[in-house]
This record gives sequence, C-alpha cells and structure tokens, in this order.
Amino acid sequence: MLPLTDRLLQVLAVEKTPFRTLAVSALLLALLALLLRALGQAVVFCRRYHENCRRLRCFPEPPRKNWLLGHLGMVNSSEESMLFLNDLVATYVHACAWWFTAWYPIVRLFHPAVIKPVLLASAAIAPKDNLFYGFLRPWLGDGLLLSSGEKWGRHRRMLTPAFHFDILKPYMRIFNQSTDIMHGKWRTLAEAGPVSLDMFEQISLMTLDSLQKCVFSYNSNCQEKASDYIAAILELSSLVVRRQHHLLYHFDCLYRLTADGRSFQRACDTVHRFTAGVVQQRRLALSQLGQEAWLKSRQGKTVDFIDVLLLAKDEEGRDLSDRDIAAEADTFMFEGHDTTASGLSWVLYNLARHPEYQERCRAEIQELVRDRETPEIEWEDLSQMPFTTMCIKESLRLHPPVTAVSRRCTEDIKLPDGRVIPKGTGVRGRACPPLNGTPTSPKVPGFGAGPV
Ligand code: HEM
Repeated sequence: MLPLTDRLLQVLAVEKTPFRTLAVSALLLALLALLLRALGQAVVFCRRYHENCRRLRCFPEPPRKNWLLGHLGMVNSSEESMLFLNDLVATYVHACAWWFTAWYPIVRLFHPAVIKPVLLASAAIAPKDNLFYGFLRPWLGDGLLLSSGEKWGRHRRMLTPAFHFDILKPYMRIFNQSTDIMHGKWRTLAEAGPVSLDMFEQISLMTLDSLQKCVFSYNSNCQEKASDYIAAILELSSLVVRRQHHLLYHFDCLYRLTADGRSFQRACDTVHRFTAGVVQQRRLALSQLGQEAWLKSRQGKTVDFIDVLLLAKDEEGRDLSDRDIAAEADTFMFEGHDTTASGLSWVLYNLARHPEYQERCRAEIQELVRDRETPEIEWEDLSQMPFTTMCIKESLRLHPPVTAVSRRCTEDIKLPDGRVIPKGTGVRGRACPPLNGTPTSPKVPGFGAGPV
C-alpha cells in the first residue's frame, strides 16, 4: 500500500508526514475493501442471474425491454396494458417468465390449473410478495393483507366474525343511505341536461362513505363535500400504483425525496391521525365505563368494525393493541373501497352495453319493491334477485377488481405439467376469463369480453 500512498501524496502535492501516510493508507484500504465487496456481490448476482435463467428456461418468455430493466414498465394500469395482457394470455395460455428487472424474476400464471398449486401451498411456502404489497406497508402497517406467519394466523382467527356474510345485515341501512345520496346527486345533475361523469370516481366516494360509516361509525358527508381523510385515501391508492411502475421510486431513500413520496407521507399522516383518534376515543370510553356498561352504551347503535376489533380476543384471552386495531381498520378501508367501486363500475358498464339485461335487472328489482312505502332493498331481498346476482357475478368474472395475486416461493413448487417454479421466484397469478367472454353456463347472461 505504501508506494501507492506515496504516489497519491505526490499527486495531491501534500507534504509527507507519518500521520498523513497512515490516514491515506487507511482510506485506500477502505476503498479496496469496498471494491472487493462490490465485486463479490457482482459475482453472486451473475451466478444467481445465470441460475435463474437456467431454471426458468422451461417457461416461454415475451421479448424484454432490455437486459437490465427486463419487462419493467411494460405493463401499467392503462387500457393498452390490459390489451397487451390479453395478448400475453392468448399467446402463452398457461404461464410465462417475466423479469421485473434483471434481479427479480417472476412467473406469470394465467391458467387456473397452474395457479391452483400456488394458492394451495401453505402461507409459509408461498407468502405474499413484499415487492408488490410492500409499498402499502407505511400506510396499512401489519394488517391482514400484509402480515404473515404467526401474526397473520392469530389476527385471522380473531377476525373470523368480521368475514361472516351475516355481519353485513345491520349495515343494509347504511348501504341504502349512501346509495341514495349518490343517486340524488346524479338526479340533480341529470335535471340540468345531459351530463358525463367518471363513474369510478362517483362510486368510489359512495363506497368510501359506506365504509367510513361501517368501520368507524363516522359520517364525513364526503359525497357532498370534500373530506381530507377520504381525499388522502384516494391519493394513497393512486400513488401506490404509480410507485410500482417507476424503478427509482422503489428505493425508499429516493422515494422520500420525490414530490410523490412527500405527498404519500402527508396522506399517510392524515389517515393515521384520523384512525388513531377514533381508536383512542373508543378505547378510553371502554376503559372508563368497563366492558358491560360500554356494551350497553353501544346498544341501539350498529356495532362497527372498531367495536369488533376492540372486543376481539385470542385463544389466551389477549386483545389487540391500538396499533394492531388501527392497521386492521386502515386495511379494511383500503381493501373494501377500491374493490367494490371497481366491481360496481364494471357491472354498470356491462349493463349499459346490454340494455336487454339491464331491463331484466330493473324489472326484477321493481317487482321486489313494488308495494313498499320506501323502495329500499332489504337483507332478505338479496337472495330474491337471481338474474341481477348472475349479472354481478358474470361481470366480476370478466372484470375482476383484483386482477392478480402475488406470492414469493420459499420452496420449489411443482406445476401439474411437471414444470417447477424455482424457490426464490416471484409468482403473479392472474386468472383470466375466456377471451371471447363465453359465460360459465347457458343460463348466465353473456356480456362478451368488451374492449378490455
Ligand atoms: C368485489 C369485492 C372484493 C374483491 C374482488 C376482493 C378480492 C380480494 C382478494 C383477491 C384478496 C386476496 C389478496 C391476496 O391474497 O393477495 C383479498 C383479500 C382481502 N380482502 Fe378483499 N375483495 C373484495 C372486497 C373486500 C371488502 C369489502 C373488504 C373489507 C371491507 C375486503 C377485505 C379484505 C382483506 C382484509 C383481505 C386480506 C385477507 C387476508 O389476507 O387474510 N375485501 N380480497
């Protein structure tokens, strides 16, 4: 190291002293260590890349953008991308390899037969893929969607009642109320003449309005006036999608410095402040009154999701912490609003394209509410509208609101045709309806696949 140190001191035109010699030597050694480490990592990366290419050779691969980025950015949430995905399914039918940058291979699965083994694998062998779900973590924390292992199992058992269909019964009044507000707005707008509306925006506000009432018993009137909390949720939903498609945004340290990153942080703070406020108030009331008096005070009111969470106990009688409750409430707000708004928007789209089916649905509902003072849908009605139900299900099949689920294999997973998804690979399962939109049964209305 000494000759190099001497040379460097000469180049820098600095007088040689024992201390400077020592300092420059230490610096050079540190640089050498960094270089060797980077070299080691490059060798590991090349070997892993080579190994991944070899093991994924059994899956056909669409042309990549380039070696480094792979297929990154070739699919986003635009209509062109949806058409491109349809082409992929038509070309590769079962599965194809996909490079989300050179160091992140995934297998895209299309056919239900090849998706099945991944969905049947245990949560330990095919956990949720952090790359796709991780960007939601600063917002949703360790709620059911993002948690894994022991924690997920415990919370899932504690929240079993929240997934029971009957829990929705007392909320019918809220759903009717929120829908009436939306219809009222449309009527007023239509009275002024022809109007064009972004249905997804309108319906998202309605589903968020319903959820805020069901989860927190809070009425923000968000369908009629702006609400910071609701605006923050809508902003977070779109920022997460945008982040997925920008490679540089994937690094937390860079993302925090961007305008998007700062907006994300601000919106997260707004949402967390609201949720923490409700949880703390309710917890305080529960501890001041005691469980019995508190339950009495809630009588006559609809039990909301925060109540369900506050009262949930595990097998050992332990309850959820405030942090856990907030994470589950934020998760339900996110999972509940976008999925239902997307599903309902597609139902309206499909019925608009098929006026004959629209008419049959309308006749079915009008018949149900014929002799009622207020034409409201009641709980019992839900099982008395077979044609409308078929239309909703067929629309969900053709245009699923959650288009894919992502997993990361911690073990090799064998597919029915003998091919193996190698350990460490990401998997993106996207069950695709038949491209010609053929319905599942002759009795089911066939909407056709439509433009996307
Ligand atoms: C049409 C409506 C809906 C569709 C299509 C849908 C679809 C899905 C899918 C596919 C998953 C699995 C995601 C994965 O494993 O990667 C999921 C998970 C989840 N959904 Fe929904 N969902 C809908 C409505 C809702 C609603 C209304 C709520 C709550 C209010 C909700 C709460 C959740 C939660 C908490 C999870 C995580 C469950 C867990 O991992 O244990 N979903 N949903």
